[in-house]
Amino acid sequence: MSAANLERSFIAVKPDGVERGLVGEIVRRFETRGFKILALQLVHPSEELLREHYADLAGKAFFPKLLAYMQSGPVAAFVIQGKGAVKIGRAMLGATNPQESAPGTIRADFALDIGKNVCHGSDSVEAAEKEIALWFGENLKSYTRAVDAVIYE
Ligand code: TYD
Repeated sequence: MSAANLERSFIAVKPDGVERGLVGEIVRRFETRGFKILALQLVHPSEELLREHYADLAGKAFFPKLLAYMQSGPVAAFVIQGKGAVKIGRAMLGATNPQESAPGTIRADFALDIGKNVCHGSDSVEAAEKEIALWFGENLKSYTRAVDAVIYE
């Protein structure tokens, strides 16, 4: 297995997506694309976790609303692993503002407002490692899948 095929990203279905019953649909898209699901959990994030997760945004005017939104219900947190996980993960989510998300992306298919944009995906490999450790801890257990021999050249 090439190291590139082991790239990981942290993906989350936000509380509006969980409420609307979109968890299965969103996880399915990543599974059928070929990514391996490495971890999967419903989380009620603490304010402390969210402040760490969104540390870069602490000064933004929308930050308090973002904190409240992310604590309005459970978040379905999961980790995908596979070639291009971070970049493809972001592309599959679509632009942050659903008004600008390309058709066929998750946000374009299921959202209309930036403040209720259904899902999260890490924006760099470094951010992914940080977010995975934050939401799941350091030691994610890996496993082998026979199907990887079919998915990868
Ligand atoms: P950001 O990290 O910029 O986007 P992304 O989630 O695509 O990585 O912002 C985090 C979340 O904050 C974003 O998903 C939705 C929310 N947000 C707003 O509510 N208003 C805004 O103007 C921005 C930029 C983000």
